[in-house]
Amino acid sequence: MSAVRIGPYTLQNNLILAPMAGVTDQPFRTLCQRLGAGMVVSEMVSSDMTLWDSRKSRLRRIHEGDPEPRSVQIAGGDAQMMAAAARANVEAGAQIIDINMGCPAKKVCNKAAGSALLRDEALVSEIVHAVVGAVDVPVTLKIRTGWDRASKNGLNVAKIAEQAGIQALAVHGRTRADLYTGEAEYDTIAAIKQAVSIPVFANGDITSPEKAWAVLDATGADGLLIGRAAQGRPWIFREIEHYLRTGQHLPAPGLDEVERILLEHLAALHAFYGDVMGVRIARKHVGWYLATRPGGKEFRSRFNALDETHAQCANVREFFREGRQSLETKDGTGVAA
Ligand SMILES: Cc1cc2nc3c(=O)[nH]c(=O)nc-3n(C[C@H](O)[C@H](O)[C@H](O)COP(=O)(O)O)c2cc1C
Repeated sequence: MSAVRIGPYTLQNNLILAPMAGVTDQPFRTLCQRLGAGMVVSEMVSSDMTLWDSRKSRLRRIHEGDPEPRSVQIAGGDAQMMAAAARANVEAGAQIIDINMGCPAKKVCNKAAGSALLRDEALVSEIVHAVVGAVDVPVTLKIRTGWDRASKNGLNVAKIAEQAGIQALAVHGRTRADLYTGEAEYDTIAAIKQAVSIPVFANGDITSPEKAWAVLDATGADGLLIGRAAQGRPWIFREIEHYLRTGQHLPAPGLDEVERILLEHLAALHAFYGDVMGVRIARKHVGWYLATRPGGKEFRSRFNALDETHAQCANVREFFREGRQSLETKDGTGVAA
């Protein structure tokens, strides 16, 4: 695959961490990029700037130290507010503005927003024109395949976007009405890729190197957006990148490396959010990392009762120490725990 360009930026590779509110905060974005993502996108920020003063909103908008190019996603249903939000984010350091027309959240500020906009192509056009006209950085757009299965108008929206000057498109292979049910389909993404000449990124249910290859093959897309499969598995990017480049699988990370990554992630969450919020946010991430490991589920309920940063770190170390011991026992190379 050749490298994708978005405006002046050439991506390190064609795998992007999909924006996920409540997940893709600065610590997670930084980790995913270090472990192989070619680009990462911020959690969405509302276009209503009167909401920007809350601590939560401030943390979402922090850009200093963010991996570059810094792509910030904005959500809203009013063209002028979206334009103003885009400008303010660029002033704050955003290097790419991404418009959210993909998320099933019904409303932002009592107005249709996210994928709910897809039903109103005139409004889509107004918003993309306003945002592209408001900033001199590249603007990208994230959509679903359409409003519902009877009205898969993703193709029209893609053409509107290209004509308005949108510089790359991400398409989640579900309609708005599908929410997250069923399986993503890739035919509509393939049709969109055929119909426009800007880079198209395919998204939805990409969970393994083989699936990544198959989706690229089926859609002809320029790259992929990966969301949920990266939760608790940020190294999925290097695994997919390696497979696409060489046709070979990278070995799965060993216990020592997973422990190192998880402890680094914990420390970053504690530092970024502070002790109280950091401890709370760490719980879901730790749950994801350990969900499929032996003893992970039982550990999770104990871990969720901890409310000190040092206790979280110590318990994670203990979990891995026990995991190593039981491996050694199984191998017959060590002493029973
Ligand atoms: C917890 C969560 C939060 C999400 N938040 C956003 C968001 O803020 N903006 C957006 O465009 N999409 C959002 N999405 C959708 C994802 O970006 C992605 O399109 C979707 O999860 C499908 O990709 P996947 O199968 O790789 O997860 C969110 C998804 C999840 C699971």
